[in-house]
Amino acid sequence: MIIAIANMKGGVGKTTTAVHLAACLQNLAPTLLLDGDNTRNATAWSQRGDGFPFRVANETQGAKLARNFEHTVIDTGQAPSEGDMRELMEACDLLIIPAVPAILDNDGLALTINILRSMKAESFRVLLTKVPPPPESEAAELRAEMLSSNVPIFSVDIPRLKVFEKAASAGTTVNNKAIFTSKDAPRAARAWDAYQTVANEVMSYDNKTR
Ligand SMILES: Nc1ncnc2c1ncn2[C@@H]1O[C@H](COP(=O)(O)OP(=O)(O)O)[C@@H](O)[C@H]1O
Ligand SMILES: [Mg+2]
Repeated sequence: MIIAIANMKGGVGKTTTAVHLAACLQNLAPTLLLDGDNTRNATAWSQRGDGFPFRVANETQGAKLARNFEHTVIDTGQAPSEGDMRELMEACDLLIIPAVPAILDNDGLALTINILRSMKAESFRVLLTKVPPPPESEAAELRAEMLSSNVPIFSVDIPRLKVFEKAASAGTTVNNKAIFTSKDAPRAARAWDAYQTVANEVMSYDNKTR
């Protein structure tokens, strides 16, 4: 399955989602992470630690490699053009749009969804990321808004947790127990479970559409 991660807005957790989704999918079948962002954040992340359990490549290397992998996750860069979005949509089976539930970030989400709708795209799904704990309610409000306007959305929220940053700076993913203190361990488990649920929903989406 080919899964692309994009949003017109940056800093929304695209790379974090690409890396963790690839890690989850690798447990099911050989998975390639295509680093389509020219800042090469995902590649740098993979080189900071002992390496990822899945393959990371740029687009040029990926063209040849992709045929050897069951799943390809494509990370993308900042501010894609409308044309970029169209190409991406055509190139993938599912486009994931990570979105942070904050008023200032929602213009990028609205723009992304409008572009997808104008191209009659169907295979996309919004993922709420960096979701703060209660009593903050923006995520629930944004979810309700998406549902009422028939925008497809993952059932799970990705919680806002420091363990994601810790994993990134250690060049690994949140399921790597070796890097967390016993205090962080339950949060790391929660963080990993959230992406596991996303991966399960991605796989059941694939089963439905094939
Ligand atoms: N769920 C999360 N909780 C806390 N911090 C997060 C979460 N997801 C991402 N981050 C942090 O937010 C910053 C931007 O995330 P990143 O995945 O690089 O976004 P993008 O690729 O969209 O620019 C990074 O410092 C990352 O560690
Ligand atoms: Mg990124």
